[in-house]
Amino acid sequence: MVEKIIVENLNCYYNKNCILDSLNFSILKNEILNIIGPANSGKTTFLRTLNRMNDYNTYYSRNGNIYLDKLNIFNMSVEKLRRRIGMLFAMPIPLPMSIYENIVFAPKCLGLIFEKSKQDYIVECVLKAVFLWNEVKDRLNKSAMEISGGQQQRLCIARILAINPEIILFDEPCSGLDPISTAKVEETIIELKKKYTIVFVTNNVKQASRIGDRTAFFLMGKIIEINKTEEFFISPKQKKTADYISGRFG
Ligand SMILES: Nc1ncnc2c1ncn2[C@@H]1O[C@H](COP(=O)(O)OP(=O)(O)OP(=O)(O)O)[C@@H](O)[C@H]1O
Ligand SMILES: [Mg+2]
Repeated sequence: MVEKIIVENLNCYYNKNCILDSLNFSILKNEILNIIGPANSGKTTFLRTLNRMNDYNTYYSRNGNIYLDKLNIFNMSVEKLRRRIGMLFAMPIPLPMSIYENIVFAPKCLGLIFEKSKQDYIVECVLKAVFLWNEVKDRLNKSAMEISGGQQQRLCIARILAINPEIILFDEPCSGLDPISTAKVEETIIELKKKYTIVFVTNNVKQASRIGDRTAFFLMGKIIEINKTEEFFISPKQKKTADYISGRFG
């Protein structure tokens, strides 16, 4: 198993409060790593640190390192890092433009595609990858605001795929969705694993047991347990994990 990301002695602080405490773990290439844990356990802070979204937050500080393919992410340009690591948030936030333009906007800004035929090709590929093509192929020039929330979330995933990253971070992507849309997003994420490395944050323990290859349990900024998903849920090694997954707290 190839280690895609290595987290080494990572501590993060907001206003000097320790939010992530001595994290040491790796994320393997082409795995889905679930991160579960109660509110305020630092899950989003970890994703934001990995994508360097807190660089300009003066209340935030950190020490320790994160390596992506053995390169320290804190020594890379943020632009290069974001090309390699895409992030999807809980609420779908399409750009106020057409479905088609939502997808080609970033690749065009980055100078990755110019010709219309190439744009058409990418739009079709990424919409097929998120199982949205058949639902929207006849209205690509309609506003992205006119499709349902579940479709918007898959469009936002397609938008990330259009810049061809290596890693995708999902922060509770189904929390605002109904069960049918949730199932479609889950199916999409499992399919994406063939090509991408995925970090999947969820508050939904059942969803974690369906999706990830491995699961990490965060509690008050610490990793309590990380293991293969099946073992994690069937025979947790820590009492705190057992209590959390059985709903005794959180
Ligand atoms: N921008 C910020 N400034 C100051 N404190 C913050 C900031 N963002 C998060 N925190 C604090 O960091 C802690 C961890 O928050 P974080 O959002 O990482 O938790 P989480 O595990 O994602 O929770 P949830 O399940 O509710 O999304 C919380 O105590 C929160 O109040
Ligand atoms: Mg969060």
